[in-house]
Amino acid sequence: MAETFHALYLEKGEAGPKVRIGEVPASVLPDGEVLIRVAYSTINYKDAMMVKGIGYRIKDFPFVPGIDLAGTVEQSSCPDFKPGDQVVLNGYGAGEKFAGGYGAYARAKGEWLVAVPEGWTARDTMAVGTAGVTAMLAAMEFERGGLTPGGGDILVTGASGGLGSMSIAMLSALGYRVVAATGRMGEKAYLEQLGAAEIIPRSELEGGPDKPLMARRWAGCVDAVGGKTLATVIASLDQRGVIAACGLTGGNTFTASLIPFFLRGVRLVGIEGGHGPIDERREAWARIARTLSRDRLDAMTTDAVLDDLPSLADEMLAGRVRGRVVIDVNP
Ligand SMILES: NC(=O)c1ccc[n+]([C@@H]2O[C@H](COP(=O)([O-])OP(=O)(O)OC[C@H]3O[C@@H](n4cnc5c(N)ncnc54)[C@H](OP(=O)(O)O)[C@@H]3O)[C@@H](O)[C@H]2O)c1
Repeated sequence: MAETFHALYLEKGEAGPKVRIGEVPASVLPDGEVLIRVAYSTINYKDAMMVKGIGYRIKDFPFVPGIDLAGTVEQSSCPDFKPGDQVVLNGYGAGEKFAGGYGAYARAKGEWLVAVPEGWTARDTMAVGTAGVTAMLAAMEFERGGLTPGGGDILVTGASGGLGSMSIAMLSALGYRVVAATGRMGEKAYLEQLGAAEIIPRSELEGGPDKPLMARRWAGCVDAVGGKTLATVIASLDQRGVIAACGLTGGNTFTASLIPFFLRGVRLVGIEGGHGPIDERREAWARIARTLSRDRLDAMTTDAVLDDLPSLADEMLAGRVRGRVVIDVNP
């Protein structure tokens, strides 16, 4: 590769990191067996925070964010991947601890990579991104927890966002009856198109529970919101219900009664969409490829370029981005 590559990067500034778009030295790439020519990335809530310099301490500048990337292997000393292979990387520190997907090149350990599923493109995998992997990992937790389609409603909070949209599309395709909670009731038609059977306003959940045990409403929940919303869901889960705690857009702490855990056997499971055993993640990718229909993927995906990222990050942190956005990282 050349001595520099095109990227969106963060530069040290007096009042916090500054976003720049241009050439960065190839030396910003970490060690790793596989050099990837990146074609696409995406924007996740974490990326929006990173681009806006919120909540992260960056040690080395220039820093290339982007927790997800997909592209073509250019060099590899890993026996599992050869030049020309199409690969995906979700997380493992990309775009948080070392250079990530917002540049034309990335380097990674082979053990973190997943082959782009057959019949899929690099762009498709970025439409899925960490949001989709997390949604499928949540569905796999429901199965481990014994939740079956027909066994009661599954609530998805933060429904119009990336994780929410992915969760609705995949859980409904797996046969679950999905109820979407959103602050954007104007997105009803969109959420129904993804497979939601019912839409409720998120205001029903965000005040917190009024008693330790509320009416049993949900067999399971994929929660993108946290805070008081999560506390409300805990109090209104059915016997042996499972909550996949994924996100914190409504708050990163919560106060809840332990009573539902003891009297209803409620199970609260954290989902680590950005880390975890690669075998589980490769299984999640295989299942996503079998489960997610082209129509639903297209319905939730829009396209953008690196220049759009600063304003997209603002929109995302304000809760105004719908579904998933694929970023073409090349000029
Ligand atoms: N555990 C993991 O590995 C993992 C993986 C992916 C994402 N996440 C987390 O999951 C969350 C969602 O991520 P995302 O990529 O889906 O983000 P996103 O696309 O921005 O979606 C977030 C959604 O949350 C809702 N929301 C926003 N602000 C809110 C508030 N103050 N109170 C209540 N609801 C609010 C909005 O949905 P409505 O407009 O429909 O209400 C918004 O669309 C983030 O916290 C992210 O860090 C975690």
